[in-house]
Amino acid sequence: AVERTLSIIKPDAVAKNVIGQIYARFENAGLKIVAAKMAWLSAQEAGEFYAVHKERPFYAELVKFMTSGPVMIQVLEGENAIAKNRDLMGATDPKKAAPGTIRADFAESIDANAVHGSDGQDTAKAEVAFFFPAMAVYAGR
Ligand code: CMP
Repeated sequence: AVERTLSIIKPDAVAKNVIGQIYARFENAGLKIVAAKMAWLSAQEAGEFYAVHKERPFYAELVKFMTSGPVMIQVLEGENAIAKNRDLMGATDPKKAAPGTIRADFAESIDANAVHGSDGQDTAKAEVAFFFPAMAVYAGR
């Protein structure tokens, strides 16, 4: 089915100047960018976005990292978009990410891991809505 998923290019990858290279991977896999914006998240915004991880030991570090510089936030649309984006990203820990994945090629550590992608249908819906009102998402054709 055609799905939408939320993608974030994290501060490390923005600083590396690889937004275009990552966009090319989305496009070459048949995913359309149907909404996009650059933002420098506040601690409150990053904390709320990652609220599901509030009790995890890495939460403070995660919020600190995600507010360390601008991020590029987009909605990807396509057949099986949620799983497709996760395949393109590779494992959360770049040391475990398969060769040729975004994290294997651009990420340095489990914290600075280049990209975020929604992990399921419910989180995709919630994460898209967190950053983009419906009128700011353009249906792919
Ligand atoms: P992301 O997909 O953005 O979702 C939460 C982030 O927390 C994850 O990517 C990692 O960058 C970061 N993180 C740091 N340590 C861990 C860990 N042990 N397990 C999962 N995520 C972690």
